[in-house]
Parts: sequence; structure tokens; C-alpha cells
Amino acid sequence: MRASQNWSNPIAHLIRHQPDTARYYFCPATLHATALRFQSGFNGLVTYAVKANASEEVLTNLVAAGVRTFDVASPVEMRAVRAVCPDAVLHYNNPVRSPDEVALAAAIGVASCSVDCPTELDKLSVLPKHTEITVRLALPVPGAAYDFGEKFGVGPERAIALLREVAKRGFTPAITFHPGTQCADPAAWGSYIACAAEVARTADVRIARLNVGGGFAAHRNGPAPDLEAIFDHISTQTKLHFGPTPPALVCEPGRAMVADAFALATRVKALREGGSVFLNDGIYGGLSEARDIGCGDRIRVISAADGTTRNAQPIARVIYGPTCDSLDRLPDPVALPGDIAAGDYVLFDGLGAYSQSIATRFNGYGPEEPVTVDCLS
Ligand SMILES: Cc1ncc(COP(=O)(O)O)c(C=O)c1O
Repeated sequence: MRASQNWSNPIAHLIRHQPDTARYYFCPATLHATALRFQSGFNGLVTYAVKANASEEVLTNLVAAGVRTFDVASPVEMRAVRAVCPDAVLHYNNPVRSPDEVALAAAIGVASCSVDCPTELDKLSVLPKHTEITVRLALPVPGAAYDFGEKFGVGPERAIALLREVAKRGFTPAITFHPGTQCADPAAWGSYIACAAEVARTADVRIARLNVGGGFAAHRNGPAPDLEAIFDHISTQTKLHFGPTPPALVCEPGRAMVADAFALATRVKALREGGSVFLNDGIYGGLSEARDIGCGDRIRVISAADGTTRNAQPIARVIYGPTCDSLDRLPDPVALPGDIAAGDYVLFDGLGAYSQSIATRFNGYGPEEPVTVDCLS
């Protein structure tokens, strides 16, 4: 079931209501189109990484779009998925779990779990033997916004031993990796797939599935990433390295699945001499990822008076958030139109992933619940 669509676009709502708090705009049609793009382009099972945006409207719309399998990191995420889809298949791919969390996962019934060390595999002994256990591989592969291999995953030598152990214990063996988030380079997947094939061959274990992770880049700067080029590379590299009977493929996009379905509208509280801008949201709210991966260039400044887009020659401006903390400032100056004025709305497009999930209510700020729109432009 799709959420009801009350507004044609964010600007219509902003001009009518003149909101003075930051808020998201959600376009279900965009989410459906992205889900379809993954399902028709990726040569395997498309799952969704709930951590990117666990809101009920996202999960409900993905289920309506045909997504039935979800990558969950915690019991809370498991329950959120099952609340909207009681028969959803759960892949529990947070490789570090407490014994209590494993017991809950067993009770809820997860189909697959990732591991990256023998002690974590020991904890999974309470799961039924048919459970798929995916060994998480980590390689020093460039291409992403930051390195996921620093925290999780195991190098090829230890992956071989772990995969053998998974098979010996009677679980269904598989391999997984994550090339790092916001990755637009197909070669990153290629390197991992070649290594995964070598690990399985050396371990002499036939893997049922290869989970190629999330990591697919969302549109943040310049031209939109070519997801189809990544899908094609994954498919050809899997056939090339695994031979005539390749494992079934699984992917678990978070960012690229949901980013484009939301925009964040902030408002200019004040313009200061020297050109700096105070917004009503910042790094403690919906712009938290700006610290780590920048805020991209998909930014529109809208006049609150008539909804027109400001278009004077851009000026690089320091952007501060609304809280009383002086760290509440975007790390780099952002190019904003020279005619920006106090009271204008600054719309950040493509902010559906890791924005709502991470936003805090520090100092009483933080974005409001999403307004549903027919289209975001
Ligand atoms: C195991 C796993 N799968 C998938 C994802 C989603 O990654 P992305 O949002 O980059 O697609 C993450 C992100 O942290 C993850 O840890």
C-alpha cells in the first residue's frame, strides 16, 4: 500500500505552509521506480538494508514494490520489518552480536547471518542447521566514500578457514562483502568477486550464494551514478570467476535504494556579514552525513515569497546549523546563490538515506516527519 499523496511537490507545500522547522518530503513513486530498477537490473535477489531508512513508509512501500527480504542489524529492525511484512525474510548481517541478540534472532527466525570471526560463529550455534552463514570478506579496495573493511570482515586467509568451519558445522555456507558506501566504481565489486571465488575454491566449499553487499552510490554530485554498469559488471565477473555453476547473487542496497525518494527542506534563519548562513537544521539533524561524505551539490534555494529558485552567481558560504554548539557547522563551504535571503528554503535533494536514521533532536531541533508528495522536483 502506498502512502497517500497530498501534495504535488515540496515547493507547493512550503509556499502554502511556510514551515519554520526543517522537514522531509517523501516521494513513494521514486522509491517504487528505484526498487524496480534494482529488481530488473540486478541479476539476483534484491534485499533492502533497513539501516539506511527504517521508517514505516519506506518499508511499506518497498514491500508494495515487491521487496520481501531485508538486511537487518538489530532486533528492533527485525521487528520493524515484520510489523509491515509478517512473512519477510530476514538477513541478520551485523557481524557482532550479543548472545541475547542471537537468542532473539533465533526466536524471530532469521534466514541468514554474516560472521567475520570464529567466536561470533560459536555464538550462532543456537540457530537451526539450515541457516545460511555468510563469511564476510574484507579487502583493501578503493572506490567508496570510506573504508568499511576497517571495522568488519576478514582477509582471504582467515575467510578460507572460517568458510570451512561454517560448512563443517552443517550450516549453509555463503560469502558476503561490502565494498564501502557510496561506491560508483564497478571494479570494486570485481576485485571482491574474484577473491570470493578464490576463497571458496581454496576452502573446497561450494557456496550457495554470494552477497555483494550494499555500497551502490546514490546521486550526490554531478551526473547520476551508472547503476546498470555496476549490475552488469557483477554479473559478468561472477560468471568469469565462478565458472559454469556460479552461486546465486544477493545484493543489499541501502543508500542507493532510498536516497532519491526524499528531499530535506531547511530554512535560512539568518545571513551574516561575510556571507555565512544559519539554517534551521545541521549536522545534529538531517545533515549529519555531511561531516563524513559532504553534502553533495543537489541543493536548491527557494524564495519563500513566490517559490522561485534563486539563481544569482553562487558564492561559497559557511553553513551553520541551529543548535548552540559551535561544532554545528558543515565542514566545507557550500556554493549557494548570491541572492539567497533570510526566510528562504534550502532544499537538499537525495537525502533519503542515513539522514532520518541518524538525525537527533539536540537542542530541540531536527527535521519533522515527512510530507508525502507526487514528485520531488
Ligand atoms: C552489512 C551491510 N549491508 C548493507 C549496507 C548498506 O550499505 P549502503 O547503504 O552503502 O548501500 C550496510 C551499511 O552499513 C551494511 O553494513
